[in-house]
Amino acid sequence: MGVSNISIKIKGLTKRFGKVTAVDRVDLVIQKGEFLVLLGPSGCGKTTLLRCLAGLEEPNEGKIVIGENTVFFARRGISVPPGQRQVGMVFQSYALWPHMTAYENIAFGLKLKKTPREKIPLRVAQVLRDLGMKGLEDRYPFELSGGQQQRIALARLLATKPPVFLMDEPLSNLDARLRLDMRSELKRLHHDSGATTVYVTHDQTEALTMATRVAVMNEGRIQQVGAPDEIYQKPVKLFVAEFIGMPRINLLSAHPVSTDQRLWFQVGDFRLPAAWLPSQEEVFLAIRPEDISILLHPEPDTVEFKVYGVLPAGPEVFVHVVRGDVRLVVRETRQLELAMDQRIWVTIDPSAINLYNKASGQLMSNGEAG
Ligand SMILES: Nc1ncnc2c1ncn2[C@@H]1O[C@H](COP(=O)(O)OP(=O)(O)OP(=O)(O)O)[C@@H](O)[C@H]1O
Ligand SMILES: [Mg+2]
Repeated sequence: MGVSNISIKIKGLTKRFGKVTAVDRVDLVIQKGEFLVLLGPSGCGKTTLLRCLAGLEEPNEGKIVIGENTVFFARRGISVPPGQRQVGMVFQSYALWPHMTAYENIAFGLKLKKTPREKIPLRVAQVLRDLGMKGLEDRYPFELSGGQQQRIALARLLATKPPVFLMDEPLSNLDARLRLDMRSELKRLHHDSGATTVYVTHDQTEALTMATRVAVMNEGRIQQVGAPDEIYQKPVKLFVAEFIGMPRINLLSAHPVSTDQRLWFQVGDFRLPAAWLPSQEEVFLAIRPEDISILLHPEPDTVEFKVYGVLPAGPEVFVHVVRGDVRLVVRETRQLELAMDQRIWVTIDPSAINLYNKASGQLMSNGEAG
C-alpha cells in the first residue's frame, strides 16, 4: 500500500457552543501519511475539532483543506457534507447497527462505499483477522463485550480504507492488556495503509507510543505540536510539562544566584547547580523524576533529603523525598534498600532542568530573556 497523499490544513478554526468556545483559533497542518494524536484533558475540545474535520460540526470561523479540497471556509460559506470529505471516522461512542451481526455491520460499511459485492467477504475476513476478531462474525452487538463492539466499529472503518482516518478514543473500552495489543495493531495497520490519521485520546501513554506527532490541546487551543520525544523533553509551556509524564514532573520555585564564582538556583533553604542563569528573579524549574538520582552518602553538589515514601512498580521504583516544604519524586531503576525517613542525598543533572517564566508559563532558553 502506498502512503496517502492527503494532507489536512486547518487555519483559524473556531467552534462555539453558545458561550463555550470548544475550539479556539486552531492552526494545524497534518502532513500526508502522518499519525497525529490530539491529546488533552477532558473537555478541551478534541472531539469537537475532529467532528469539524469530519463535517459533523459546522465551525464558526476558519478554513479546512483536505487534500486539494477546501471542505470548509467560513468567509466563502463553503461547507462540504461529511460524505464528500474522503474521511472515515470512528466515534468515542461507537454506534453499531444492533440488528446486524458483526459481519453484516462491516459489510454494510463496505456496501455504502460501493465496494464490488464479490470483494466484500474477503475484505471483512481480513480485517476481522487483523483485529483478532475471527470467529465472532455471526454475533449481534448485544452478544459482544464492550471491547469487542469497539473493535467491530474499528473494523468497519478500517475495511473501507479511507485515505483519512479520524479516530476518537477508539480503544477506550478495552482492558489494559488488549489496549496495548491494539495499539501495536493500529500502528501496524497505519504503517501498512499509510492513511493520514488524526487520533484523539486523553491518555498520554497512548499518544506518546502511537503518534508521529502529538498536538497537545487545552481549553480549545493547541499548546504545542511536536514529535513525542520533543513534547516530553522540551515542553514549551508549563501546562504541557505538567500534563505529560507519569508521575508528574517536579516543579520548584527558584531564584537564580551567582556566588563563589558559580551559578546556582536557590530553592527554599538549599541550592542546586545551574547550567545558566535567566534574567528573571524568580522562575520555575521543571525536572523529570528520572533526571534525579539518589545517593546514600553525601558528595559535592548534592542536597540532603529524607525518604518520605517508596513506591515500587516492577522494574522501577518511585521514591518520594522531602526537605522542609520541598517534595520531589524520583524514578530509580536500581534496586535501592530505602527505609522510611532515611537520610539520602539527591543530585540533579543541571542540563536536564527546564526553566519556565513564572508569569507566562513559557519555556525559557539560554540567551533569551524568556
Ligand atoms: N453539542 C454541544 N453543545 C454544547 N456544548 C458542547 C457540545 N459539544 C461539546 N460541548 C462543549 O465543548 C467543550 C469541548 O468538548 P469536547 O467534547 O470537544 O471535549 P473533549 O476534549 O473531546 O473531551 P473528552 O476527553 O471528555 O471526550 C466542552 O466544554 C463541552 O462541554
Ligand atoms: Mg471527546
